[in-house]
Amino acid sequence: MASRHPALEGYTRYRAVGQLAFLLHRITGLGILLFLVIHIIDTSFVYFAPELYDEAIQIYRSIPFMIGEIFLVWSVFYHGFNGIRIIIFDLWKPEWWEKDIAVKSVYWTLALSILAWLPAAYIMGRAIIENHFMGG
Ligand code: HEM
Repeated sequence: MASRHPALEGYTRYRAVGQLAFLLHRITGLGILLFLVIHIIDTSFVYFAPELYDEAIQIYRSIPFMIGEIFLVWSVFYHGFNGIRIIIFDLWKPEWWEKDIAVKSVYWTLALSILAWLPAAYIMGRAIIENHFMGG
């Protein structure tokens, strides 16, 4: 049954691949937002608590955070490309919501987001190895 609340509607509205696209859009959107909020707070430490700022920078240099940042970059690409897909469909091509075209467009969006992300993932992955495992 479709939910009456707009924020919950997506959970029941889409099926299979559409459901995946919707969930990824929500998770990446909230993930980017969470990062942005944390990053604004830790950057403000420069002014309010300089000793904590250095600690925050150290945390960003840790392996889990650096890996997280690699996935953050993919999140931005996926959310951006999928957002543009939704905008194009909603505003100009509502007939493309028809199932087969919509499913194909999700696969294209996923492929495009991974392709755009790979160079950054490579450079950032290399930085982790250089900074943490190669000394100097
Ligand atoms: C690259 C530029 C961006 C584009 C083109 C874009 C596009 C969109 C669109 C079209 C929606 C509505 C989705 C729908 O109708 O189902 C949306 C939702 C959302 N966006 Fe973005 N967005 C962008 C950047 C961002 C950024 C930077 C953030 C976080 C700071 C963000 C956070 C969110 C959140 C939390 C939602 C709600 C998701 C949901 O309700 O499931 N977006 N975005």
